[in-house]
Amino acid sequence: MNFYFFRIQKEKKSINKRKKILFFFLSFCLVFPLKADEGMWVPLLLKRNQMDMQAKGCKLTAEDIYQVNGSSLKDAVVIFGGGCTGEVVSDQGLLLTNHHCGYGQIQSHSSLEHDYLTNGFWAASLAEELPCNGLSVTFLVRMEEVTTEVLQNLSETLSEAVRADSIKIRIKRIESRAVEGTHYQGRVVPFYYGNQYYLFVNEVFEDVRFVGAPPSNIGKFGGDTDNWVWPRHTGDFSVFRIYADSNNEPAPYNSKNQPYHPKKFLKIDLKGVEENDFTFVFGYPGRTQEYLSSYGIKQIVEVENPIRIEARTQRLDIIKKAMNTSALQRIQYAAKAASIANGWKKWIGETKGVERLEAVNRKEEYEKKFQQWTQSPSGLPYQGILTALKQSYHSLEPYNVMNVIFQEHVNAPEIVGFAYGFKKLCQVSEGLDTTICVEAQVEQMKKRTEAFYKNYDPNIDREIFEKLAFMTSSGNMVQVIDFEGINMEKQLDNFYKKSLFSQKEKLLKFLSQYEKGDYKKIEKDMLYKYSQLVYSQYFAQTRPMLALYQRRIDSLQRLYMKGQMEMVQEVKSLNSHLLADTNIPVFYPDANFTLRVSYGKVAGFSPSDAQHYNYYTTLNGIMQKENPEIYDYVVEDKLKTLYLNKDYGRYANQKGEMPVGFIATNHTTGGNSGSPVLNAEGNLIGLNFDRNWEGTMSDIIYDPDLCRNISLDIRYCLFIIDKFAGAHRLIEEMSLVE
Ligand code: ARG
Ligand code: GLU
Repeated sequence: MNFYFFRIQKEKKSINKRKKILFFFLSFCLVFPLKADEGMWVPLLLKRNQMDMQAKGCKLTAEDIYQVNGSSLKDAVVIFGGGCTGEVVSDQGLLLTNHHCGYGQIQSHSSLEHDYLTNGFWAASLAEELPCNGLSVTFLVRMEEVTTEVLQNLSETLSEAVRADSIKIRIKRIESRAVEGTHYQGRVVPFYYGNQYYLFVNEVFEDVRFVGAPPSNIGKFGGDTDNWVWPRHTGDFSVFRIYADSNNEPAPYNSKNQPYHPKKFLKIDLKGVEENDFTFVFGYPGRTQEYLSSYGIKQIVEVENPIRIEARTQRLDIIKKAMNTSALQRIQYAAKAASIANGWKKWIGETKGVERLEAVNRKEEYEKKFQQWTQSPSGLPYQGILTALKQSYHSLEPYNVMNVIFQEHVNAPEIVGFAYGFKKLCQVSEGLDTTICVEAQVEQMKKRTEAFYKNYDPNIDREIFEKLAFMTSSGNMVQVIDFEGINMEKQLDNFYKKSLFSQKEKLLKFLSQYEKGDYKKIEKDMLYKYSQLVYSQYFAQTRPMLALYQRRIDSLQRLYMKGQMEMVQEVKSLNSHLLADTNIPVFYPDANFTLRVSYGKVAGFSPSDAQHYNYYTTLNGIMQKENPEIYDYVVEDKLKTLYLNKDYGRYANQKGEMPVGFIATNHTTGGNSGSPVLNAEGNLIGLNFDRNWEGTMSDIIYDPDLCRNISLDIRYCLFIIDKFAGAHRLIEEMSLVE
């Protein structure tokens, strides 16, 4: 689709200009093509993609996927909690998402007697389904463009701050008007860096119950070793249910609430996938940055990522070493290690991918074209943009570095943030903060103390402090602190042995006898003093400057985005009679945790020379990876027996194998976890849960040869529910298509 033909027009007068544009456009296509299957599309505007989707095999219309007047697939897709996607799969409000999305809830229902994380959990009846404190599920009722209302009559000469304030007020007004007299929630979100705005009207359900999850050796099989990696064998799913009041409307938890009857639920297709099949992912991608300048990309891969990666390498070494020698520490640090490693591994892949695709070079080439265009009358308003962006990134850099160093070095030892958290208690005690009474704040701190120490080991934390808090890996001082005139090294004994915060019992005793004046004891504590010092430095010096330059970059990026769109529009309209696919916009909006459709095809890939990966994995692969000695690769006897007997029921593929995962070219990112992966008919065939490591640069630059989303095959999910767990009642309420 990137190959266009031109007929050169012969008007004498404009021939030179036309030639220039032609040259410009041809080279433009070479440097900024929208690559096959790239894009996260707005459901409301899906009509523009319909032709392309159908040409690729989709049997649905845009209205089947999104419409407001009847029910459509969008009515079965939800935000699960704060950062994942889920989908409704029965008329009883049954919900599927990833195991790693339900992890927090599974963990909080687990205890030594009922270790659901390790052993799995299956509610045998509605009555056994467990209420989940704090968990919500959000449906999209409708979306609407509100750009005109947000931006109209805003003068170009307004300062950024005044502009931002007016926008804020308008947004508030639109949001509250949209939901007046309803139980809905309104949210207006900027698109294209604030060049467009959309209103989202949501319905939020708060009574969501935990229904089932496989044991971790299925739901997290392969653990962090296999994370971001294909071939993959993780059974990454968990099951919840939405409950509603007697009017089928959202209500806080109440034992009288009933399963919710959704407007739409997904049918599940058992026929599976073949290579090249059309698929789409419908969910909530969190954040991408596809339209950054070369300066922005450089700052990520040359400045931020290396510091983060290096610091986390050291932190993970320390944690993993401890986890390998002690069972307690393994439990305590499992979730922390997973989350530290998740970012660490992604950034390594992203940096490599950006280099491999020569993204900076390509952007520079593109910027030359853009610069050329700014010489033309329509490009004139954008003439200084790139230079200004370059300068702003230059000004941002030192604060960006300080920010990353604070996050990954100074704040890496957890005790620092924990001690800092007692500031509120001091302020409340001293009467400087009256939002809460002392007793209530003390109670909160007791809870925090219990929670903190549950998954904390002072020896691990101290080692992290020693290694990271003062030095970067390149041997640079992280911070120069004249702390009480004493050598910081010597303070560590103080921090980890003598401080009020160094022992749980000591701290809890202090809190249970707490009297107002005791805040002075906190303020005298060495560790507390240190935490106040580093945090206040961060809040006073790093954060405001970071925000200042970030705001400047944001507003430049808004103009740059506008310029890019105008430039392409101009080139397109000059040549529209010659372009195929003129319907598909060249620019899709960057992900912003709003509902999107990504579509593509099932496909293997070649990670490197002479290597090729198949598009699906099977239970055979689980048995090949099995290793009772390695935690991530333990396989339970029950699963082994099913494997040995080939007891796969109706879930096997045509070859008689038990499929586990598959990959496709759908463009996804964090937040898409748990998203339904659908086939040409709109039936559920999988659950999105990851990307391949070689493709993690897709948040910055997408490549159809390298970028794949990783999905759990729905047949493995059903096999585990049915054959492994025997939770037949769940299968019975789903609607299976064979
Ligand atoms: N990489 C996936 C995502 O970004 C899965 C993360 C959870 N799994 C894990 N092994 N840490 O969320
Ligand atoms: N695991 C990611 C999530 O939690 C999805 C993988 C990705 O970043 O694409 O959303």
